Amino acid sequence: QKKAVVGPLVGAVVQGTNSTRFLVFNSKTADLLSHHQVELTQEFPKEGWVEQDPKEILQSVYECIERTCQKLVELNIDISNIKAIGVSNQRETTVIWDKLTGEPLYNAVVWLDLRTQPTVENLSKKIPGNNNFVKSKTGLPLSTYFSAVKLRWILDNVRQVQKAVEEGRALFGTIDSWLIWSLTGGVNGGVHCTDVSNASRTMLFNIHSLEWDKELCDFFEIPMDILPNVWSSSEIYGLLKAGALEGVPISGCLGDQSAALVGQMCFQEGQAKNTYGTGCFLLCNTGHKCVFSEHGLLTTVAYKLGRDKPVCYALEGSVAIAGAVIRWLRDNLGIIKTSEEIETLAKDVGTSYGCYFVPAFSGLYAPYWEPSARGIICGLTQFTSKNHIAFAALESVCFQTRQILDAMNRDCGVPLTHLQVDGGMTNNKILMQLQADILHIPVMKPSMTETTALGAAMVAGAAEGVGVWSLKPEDLSVIIMERFEPQIKVTESEVRYATWKKAVTKSMGWVT
Ligand code: G3P
Repeated sequence: QKKAVVGPLVGAVVQGTNSTRFLVFNSKTADLLSHHQVELTQEFPKEGWVEQDPKEILQSVYECIERTCQKLVELNIDISNIKAIGVSNQRETTVIWDKLTGEPLYNAVVWLDLRTQPTVENLSKKIPGNNNFVKSKTGLPLSTYFSAVKLRWILDNVRQVQKAVEEGRALFGTIDSWLIWSLTGGVNGGVHCTDVSNASRTMLFNIHSLEWDKELCDFFEIPMDILPNVWSSSEIYGLLKAGALEGVPISGCLGDQSAALVGQMCFQEGQAKNTYGTGCFLLCNTGHKCVFSEHGLLTTVAYKLGRDKPVCYALEGSVAIAGAVIRWLRDNLGIIKTSEEIETLAKDVGTSYGCYFVPAFSGLYAPYWEPSARGIICGLTQFTSKNHIAFAALESVCFQTRQILDAMNRDCGVPLTHLQVDGGMTNNKILMQLQADILHIPVMKPSMTETTALGAAMVAGAAEGVGVWSLKPEDLSVIIMERFEPQIKVTESEVRYATWKKAVTKSMGWVT
């Protein structure tokens, strides 16, 4: 049977904290043709620790690629049309592995992990009164969030890692590096690389010179020979060495938040998007300028779309817990069986009835950067039901977004007139309406919410030597947006927001 003719296709690996997906797009129309998703295990071995198994993550990528290809074949689509693959990934999560055996030397220490709080305090003492040393080079505050402190902890505490480093066998990487090295051959010639967007989240990368920074590596006592090569976000890194797509180039690599920025076509200075995943991340493109925040935001590398292309930066508001609060209600409290059920619970009451939920499970990120905070649910009465708690959980995501949007507006000087959103949670209509109400600006959701995958596919397809996707603004398809308008009075949203901020103050200082 003759297979249906479809234009050049591009695949995207989306490796998130919660799940791995592989999606295949038509490069001419940006239509999503097929995909597969696998949910991942998260391990919490001690209070505040969050780990994942790098082998399970890798296996999930292979499984998603194979299953998606099977689905394409069933749709009568020739998988030899897949011309390139992009990788987008949860950022900061730290993997260290043995280049001779291909085995991880320790579990991946996930970005949310808090074990490095003492490490951060000790490092702060080394630079009293001069936190600017790290921030001016990296755009980041010294925090448990970033890879350098996680790597420092592993080097201090895991004997087999110390031994492998001494013997020159250890390689470090964020998830993108681990995947690209493994997928391009691993012990048989795997390519050890990362892109500028992922490198900028390690806290070892100088965002001005776009190189690993010797002074930072000395400060964190990280041997530079275990670090990956840093390339642009759009070029051929290597070829897939196994499976249904053997021989296909991996030619795109972006941290997931950068990929969403690209997928939402935010190429112009001042364009912004907010992605609701495990956490919630608002990025505003600042063009070729590094803008430093006065209000608790990060400065980060957004992307570099080719070796000879200029780098673009972004201001970022990072919220640690968004979708993760829903998973917590499902897995820890058991008040919902599936994540989707939260919408029904919340809709049935339409209010939190004065209940406020601050999900500071990993401290608070932007704009507070307060590791001592812990989650609280307050304002409870005998009337409070699981429905109200569900509603408060959704509202907490919206309030946190409001806080980072306020900070963004102050830093940029020009307030955003609407918010472009994406990510799995945006399918929840109650959440989207609440978000518009609490921000008091329209919220715009693209009809195709897989923007992270789309961004990764776009940069892979546009890479030199692939050339099946044009990134010229005039060639980019128009995204149809669903619009949510604020429906409550400003005074009402301000009162609720003020009460939320009061709840936040109660969440601080639980851990000393
Ligand atoms: O910085 C962490 C971020 O990249 C995680 O993304 O999709 O797992 O919420 P996600």
